[in-house]
Amino acid sequence: MARAPLPPMGWNSWNQTQDRVTEDVVRHAAHALVDRGLAACGYDTVVIDDGWQAPAREGDGTLTANPERFPRGMAALAAEVRDLGLHFGIYSAPGTTTCAGYLGSLGHEQTDAQTFAEWGVDFVKYDWCGAAKGSRDSEVEMFTRMRRALDATGREIVLSISEYGVEQPWEWADGIAEMYRTTFDIWPTWSSVYSLLNQQLPLLVHSRPGCWADPDMLQVGNGDLNRDENRSHMALWCLMPAPLFIGTDLDRAPDEVLDLLRHPGLLALARDPLAAPMRITGVNGELMIFRRPLSDGAWAVAMLNHTSHRVEHELPLASLGFDGRTPTSAVDVWTGEAWRGGRVSLPAHATAVFTARD
Ligand code: GLA
Repeated sequence: MARAPLPPMGWNSWNQTQDRVTEDVVRHAAHALVDRGLAACGYDTVVIDDGWQAPAREGDGTLTANPERFPRGMAALAAEVRDLGLHFGIYSAPGTTTCAGYLGSLGHEQTDAQTFAEWGVDFVKYDWCGAAKGSRDSEVEMFTRMRRALDATGREIVLSISEYGVEQPWEWADGIAEMYRTTFDIWPTWSSVYSLLNQQLPLLVHSRPGCWADPDMLQVGNGDLNRDENRSHMALWCLMPAPLFIGTDLDRAPDEVLDLLRHPGLLALARDPLAAPMRITGVNGELMIFRRPLSDGAWAVAMLNHTSHRVEHELPLASLGFDGRTPTSAVDVWTGEAWRGGRVSLPAHATAVFTARD
């Protein structure tokens, strides 16, 4: 199948630096992915988002990197990243400019795809907002044009399209892109994470191997998110399952954040080969409840406290049933320990996560 049988994972510069990305930032992130064991967990793609481009094309129309920010040039950086055993990703746009006002690929699709392929690019994020306002058809045509240009290079390149769900990409992205954004940008606040979660829920049914719905990159470790909010963000993105692109400074991230990004129980959900979409199976004034079948016959159940105060519930093991099946055993995914039912106490915005089987 398909280039992305499981949701792509890696690190992307945007949530860490916005458009002030440099060669050093990227090199540090790539080495940190390897040195901190994140690459071994599946975070294998380093993506340079907007801001890398030189102010003008070369005389022959080639797009190059900004020489002040990337003094060694993009080919050398790509080679260093790829020598670490990682994939290398880059960003462009189907407009004359990108979202942050840098040069886009409109009218240069073939040249740029060829340049990317020569650099050894494995992943392209193609981002709409600098493009002219058009119809759905013109949008599909612009994204298709880049898909064809990438294919024509003969290199296997994952295409991540970003048009924020405006023209319902879940209806047409299959065959063009391996992942498609469904929302506007994520910010490092609980209200943003929670809003994107809610926007994503009805769309998960469309998400599938090879063409993933993308509720935007991780803000784990950033901004105003507290410990429970980071944990809920990570757990729910793993459970969806969503593409997982780290967007925090891995040289400065505390162990608590690194441990969360590497959490074996959560990543087992994210990497479950069945990759069935999470469903919302209950909601009340305090909890949102999600369930998802897993490949080994077990299933996952998560409960998010969406209030701003602690909630406590007495939960018998039987309350973790799924599709008429009654569990005989369960595991608390956070601790990895058997869970036999009992009192669950969740701080504001915290999520309990279990796997269960009959
Ligand atoms: C848009 C995208 C972001 C980022 C910026 C770059 O806002 O949604 O993810 O790529 O553009 O300018």
